[in-house]
Amino acid sequence: MTQIGDFNPFNPGSGESPPYLAGRESEQGRLRKILAEISAGRSPAAETVMYGPRGMGKTVLLNWLEDEVEKGGAKNNSIRVSRVTPDQLTSPAEMWDFLISKNWLQKKFPNKKEVGVKGFLYGAWTENSTSPKELLDKLIHQCKKSPLVCLLDEAHTMDAGLCNGLLNLSQAVRNEAPFLLVLAGTPGLRHFLSTVNASFVERSNVIGIARLDAQATADAIVKPLNEHGIEIDDNTLAQVVEDSQHYPYFIQLWGAALWDLAKEKDLQKLTSQEITEAETKVGNRRLNFYEQRRKTLSDIGLLPAAVAIAAVFQDTETTTRDYLKEIIADNLPDDSLATQSVNEHLQTFIRHEFIWNPPDTNLYEAGIPSLMRYVLDRQR
Ligand SMILES: Nc1ncnc2c1ncn2[C@@H]1O[C@H](COP(=O)(O)OP(=O)(O)OP(=O)(O)O)[C@@H](O)[C@H]1O
Ligand SMILES: [Mg+2]
Repeated sequence: MTQIGDFNPFNPGSGESPPYLAGRESEQGRLRKILAEISAGRSPAAETVMYGPRGMGKTVLLNWLEDEVEKGGAKNNSIRVSRVTPDQLTSPAEMWDFLISKNWLQKKFPNKKEVGVKGFLYGAWTENSTSPKELLDKLIHQCKKSPLVCLLDEAHTMDAGLCNGLLNLSQAVRNEAPFLLVLAGTPGLRHFLSTVNASFVERSNVIGIARLDAQATADAIVKPLNEHGIEIDDNTLAQVVEDSQHYPYFIQLWGAALWDLAKEKDLQKLTSQEITEAETKVGNRRLNFYEQRRKTLSDIGLLPAAVAIAAVFQDTETTTRDYLKEIIADNLPDDSLATQSVNEHLQTFIRHEFIWNPPDTNLYEAGIPSLMRYVLDRQR
């Protein structure tokens, strides 16, 4: 039998890939199809926008996509991948560094000087008044030779002007050559993109990253445990799957706690009797996580509205935007928050992932599972 190793394979955190990436076959299939197209030299019809509440696995899916491109690249030496976060993209010059080979840029513009955001597409870029058109042409030329996939995580935190520049550039390049821009972010990304003044992003290829189904949740826990020689009985597994609420971050918390338990007690099989300890561990981490979010809503004065929304979601899994707005309007403190529109408050709830609107539906769901239950319980 396999021995339990020294290191816990589960990764409850942010951005760390899980030992087994479960339940993303459909998203992976869609992304593979786009990669196949661009590796055949075809331009994608649109940008790809991936969004979902925190802890659902957006970064992990970007990790997978990056690996997938690199794997393919090694085979046929075609697609290249470039990945950044907005903190690395604070100026047009940094943007070009991200898109075009640094060697070429350094040789071409030894004395490069940054200009304003507009310069990104239209103005001069260097002291020598080299026009960005030259850069755009170079990028198109490079993509024709070797398609480029650009991955931008946490895109909702990007500077709006630069984001507008990047989107326009993406459209200009992909019209001529195989170039794919993938933006990933929290549910607030959708609203953010609608404010950056690039209306064509409404037609982007949108992928919602939501909770897993029960089977994928079970696989995410069982497969890594089995690989390390740990079994878990069916009833215990069912209990864990339910308690995790199929939420990837909680799945990893559970996996890690079960693995620690098996290791501490030198168990080869986990049953319900033993998991109470693991339950306490997971429960404590989760309370912390909820309390931070509740505190944020309280600090910005939206707790009464949060409680009212939470009450609605006790009887239903989805509701409409109009109904949510009504509830928010009825539960605002009289004075300080009245200057903002109800729409803005709704966006705040989305930004804090209390609620979200998955793609392909007009209905809203709870963002982070059980946060609403927690908010209600604390109120009582
Ligand atoms: N498909 C999956 N199967 C199992 N575990 C997963 C899966 N996707 C993500 N996880 C785990 O869930 C946690 C959150 O993943 P990740 O950091 O990618 O989320 P995120 O959506 O990028 O969150 P944030 O918005 O905070 O950046 C990590 O512990 C990760 O290992
Ligand atoms: Mg992330």
